[in-house]
Amino acid sequence: MTDRTEGLRLYDELIAVHTIMRRSTALVVDALQALIDGRPVRVATLIKLIDWQAAFVHHHHESEDELFWPVLRDRFPEVVAQLDALSVEHDKLDGALGQLSTEAAALRGVPAEQASARAVSLLPAALEVRDVLAGHLDTEEPVLVRLFPEVPAGEIITLRKAIVAGAPKAGPEWVLGLMENPSRAQGYDIMMANFPPPVRWLRPLLLRRYAKVRGSLAVD
Ligand SMILES: [Fe+2]
Ligand SMILES: [Fe+2]
Repeated sequence: MTDRTEGLRLYDELIAVHTIMRRSTALVVDALQALIDGRPVRVATLIKLIDWQAAFVHHHHESEDELFWPVLRDRFPEVVAQLDALSVEHDKLDGALGQLSTEAAALRGVPAEQASARAVSLLPAALEVRDVLAGHLDTEEPVLVRLFPEVPAGEIITLRKAIVAGAPKAGPEWVLGLMENPSRAQGYDIMMANFPPPVRWLRPLLLRRYAKVRGSLAVD
């Protein structure tokens, strides 16, 4: 019988990553709304968050398309069509996130009253990204929770190593903060154990930095 533990652990890690993505896309919507409402949003931070989010989500999609799906396709031919459909959504989402970054760049250096008007035109795209992503994850998670535990532990461990090695190093304060705020995501402890020791030592500093950048988005 397959040892299901490693597969379930990897699933929990994936949920932690999904939680970061769900919270980030929701935070972008809230910050744009704050800007529209005339609250003192630090636009440079909002642009950074939008850029970081596009890169973070794109990287996650790439690891699914290139590392996870090939393993699952080989082992479970009955889900090939579902995996292909998820990959099509990855491409669409990456396109929408990239487009949002490009449009958000136009906010740079714009006076506050004009930034508010421009935020109105960005909001529909940000809402679409948040909702399409949430729908994607809601479809993907039930498929993966069923399949991951069926993959042999050795294969899961190899997969995890490849993912950890290729993980983006940018914006650790967003990664940590969104994983902890407002509550610790499912899979938090396993994710923390994957981080290189310096990130774990720097946790208090990174969380302070997160509180500061989040505060500058005027969402709370
Ligand atoms: Fe995913
Ligand atoms: Fe996905």
